[in-house]
Amino acid sequence: MKVILLGSGNTATVLAKMIVKAEHEVVQVWSRNFDHAKVLAAKVHAQPITSFDELSAEADICIMAVSDTAIPELAKQLKLKRKVLVHTAGSVSKELLKNSSADYGVLYPLQSLRKEMIVIPPVPFLIDGSSDEVNALLEDFAASLSDHVEYADDETRLKMHLAAVMVSNFTNHLYALTEDYCKDRRLDFKLLHPLIIEVACRLTQGHAVDMQTGPARRGDEETIKKHLLLLEIDEHLQDLYRELSDSIGKLYRKK
Ligand SMILES: NC(=O)c1ccc[n+]([C@@H]2O[C@H](COP(=O)([O-])OP(=O)(O)OC[C@H]3O[C@@H](n4cnc5c(N)ncnc54)[C@H](OP(=O)(O)O)[C@@H]3O)[C@@H](O)[C@H]2O)c1
Repeated sequence: MKVILLGSGNTATVLAKMIVKAEHEVVQVWSRNFDHAKVLAAKVHAQPITSFDELSAEADICIMAVSDTAIPELAKQLKLKRKVLVHTAGSVSKELLKNSSADYGVLYPLQSLRKEMIVIPPVPFLIDGSSDEVNALLEDFAASLSDHVEYADDETRLKMHLAAVMVSNFTNHLYALTEDYCKDRRLDFKLLHPLIIEVACRLTQGHAVDMQTGPARRGDEETIKKHLLLLEIDEHLQDLYRELSDSIGKLYRKK
């Protein structure tokens, strides 16, 4: 398939690499910043463009991988013919694209994507097209990029996006805070890497609720008190520790 990418950030860059690997062709990369378009276009031998007047008539699919807030703005400027237009956002309705192309939809990669990624991890895709024909095309296209493709309407995708924020963004925030905590106390955060990986990998073997360990799970109030005392100088971390311990405690007291 011939693809046009709108955007040159994290998602556009990772998708471009996946698309080329699957033996499709990225014909053009559009970005509001021509230098950014050039950098990504060079990676996949595409034409960099910065005006919608230059959009190729040949492409089958146009992927709008720009910030969520830019989607309505760009959609207003686009009038595509004979091209499926999709965006890549978890929390944006596909209907925002309905006046930009007769065939439109969503190709949402359910993964944390960074342009610096060297190895691209498995990326499940949630797709949603404006018609059965668009769904069929998106399903074929996504299946050429990934082993995991599901149909999800706006509401399901929004709920899934929230779940993704919980398991990915929130856990990463805890890692970031803990890394700072370790740095301030001259502790080696890297010693925790095997633990982080083990706990995440365990999820493939069963339910998270059955995998919980730690003082709050055991109802070990003495240890919790000692930890909270250690955090007296860091009120924010102390509040988070208390909040999460209470949440774990409540869940297992219910059972
Ligand atoms: N990264 C992820 O993990 C991930 C995963 C799933 C879905 N998504 C979705 O993918 C989309 C892109 O996210 P991203 O992570 O790739 O973001 P990003 O790395 O911040 O890149 C954003 C892109 O949008 C462009 N842009 C921003 N505001 C614009 C505007 N007003 N007009 C035109 N272009 C504009 C930026 O251009 P400049 O280079 O000029 O700033 C850049 O090319 C979003 O809808 C996001 O929800 C992201």
